[in-house]
Amino acid sequence: MTIPKNPQNIQNLFDTIALKYDFMNNIISLGLQKEVKSKAIRLLDIKPTGEILDACCGTGDLGIIIKSNFPDTKITGIDFSSKMLEIAKNKNSNINFVFGDITKTLFSSGYFDTITMAFGLRNIPDKEKALKELYRILKINGEFLHLDFGKKNVFNLIFDKFTPLFAKIFCKNPEPYKYLINSKKDFPSPDELIKFFETFGFKLKTRRDFVFGAISAQVFVKI
Ligand SMILES: C[S@@+](CC[C@H](N)C(=O)[O-])C[C@H]1O[C@@H](n2cnc3c(N)ncnc32)[C@H](O)[C@@H]1O
Repeated sequence: MTIPKNPQNIQNLFDTIALKYDFMNNIISLGLQKEVKSKAIRLLDIKPTGEILDACCGTGDLGIIIKSNFPDTKITGIDFSSKMLEIAKNKNSNINFVFGDITKTLFSSGYFDTITMAFGLRNIPDKEKALKELYRILKINGEFLHLDFGKKNVFNLIFDKFTPLFAKIFCKNPEPYKYLINSKKDFPSPDELIKFFETFGFKLKTRRDFVFGAISAQVFVKI
């Protein structure tokens, strides 16, 4: 059985897996996820005292990496899973982790210098609404980093094969991990995503692929 993709189910799913999220992420990515995130943020031109939003921040790693490299930035992480946020808050109290839906935030237009989103968009059924909102709250000339799985190559196949196995071994309820694998299947390729993002007014600045393209980062500028 796969879980129907609607916001309520997604929220419940991440609340359910929150406690094991970091542990499983490290196993599934063979410990690479933090390194990839660290390399991806180097593609950004981060202002030392800039306002930064980590959208769909989950347990907060991306914001925490940025804060450790740029201690004077003001970072906000937003997510609609209170359980994921609880873990993020316990890891770092210098980041403002807030509960909210990225498709309808209360931030002022043009508020953020930089927005990041890692492995988030895939989980949002109304991607247009999310991208319009991200575009609205980003400053003109501000940058948006998008990071997610990329090409369906051998590394992605290994991920798809081993994730259910690891989930069976380490989690009481492996069902949510089936959803995570399925959510990759219908997600657009990086080339398709770039075209899609550009229809909202984002202009591609740079793209970098990791793990032979299994993970892809794209940085866009709001023009
Ligand atoms: C796969 S996790 C990624 C977490 C983190 N960015 C990372 O790289 O580990 C996806 C996150 O997106 C959040 N999410 C999904 N849809 C959302 C929405 N509409 N608004 C806010 N958060 C959302 C989920 O609650 C979950 O924490």
